[in-house]
Amino acid sequence: MACQLYGWRDRLVGEIGGAVLEIGVGSGANLPHYRHATTVWAIEPDPQLAARARRAADGAGVRAHVKVAVAEALPFAAGTFDHVVSSLVFCSVTDQNLALGEIRRVLRPAGLLHMVEHVRPQARALASLAHRVTPYWSQIAHNCHLDRPTVETLRAAGWDVRILGRFGVFVQIEARLA
Ligand SMILES: C[S@@+](CC[C@H](N)C(=O)[O-])C[C@H]1O[C@@H](n2cnc3c(N)ncnc32)[C@H](O)[C@@H]1O
Repeated sequence: MACQLYGWRDRLVGEIGGAVLEIGVGSGANLPHYRHATTVWAIEPDPQLAARARRAADGAGVRAHVKVAVAEALPFAAGTFDHVVSSLVFCSVTDQNLALGEIRRVLRPAGLLHMVEHVRPQARALASLAHRVTPYWSQIAHNCHLDRPTVETLRAAGWDVRILGRFGVFVQIEARLA
């Protein structure tokens, strides 16, 4: 994603193996891109999207189990997963820190968090515009925020964050527990 968005889902999940949890799986758009995962557990708060994700999994050739749940209360035991995936979800979660705490809990000690998220623009004028627009945008876009400093929030929560690429406001992140 250093210079393009094309193929970002493949770059996000294509190489991941082991025990995987995807949060906010939506309609399951990432599922066909898991080439190495044997089983993917996924959560999604919207039951209709969860049903679509289950259908997507059937056609994707990956064994996926989709539960209706939120990132702030993950229905899994501590230390269950090698990898957690989040794409375009942290703009919308109700509480980023609660979600990060839950992800920390369910990851194994050497586990990795893989994200593609849109974040607060780096340019100050655009960041200010994003901040002013967000109260209106979030009303019509399912709680999507344009002004979240997700990278800084991760670092403040004690994650060791590696930026793999940026394209405008989109950032690909790999994070481990520091
Ligand atoms: C823009 S969609 C992205 C869907 C999918 N991850 C993708 O990349 O296509 C945002 C998703 O986040 C989910 N979401 C919103 N709040 C959430 C929360 N608190 N916990 C988990 N998922 C959440 C929404 O239901 C929706 O499926």
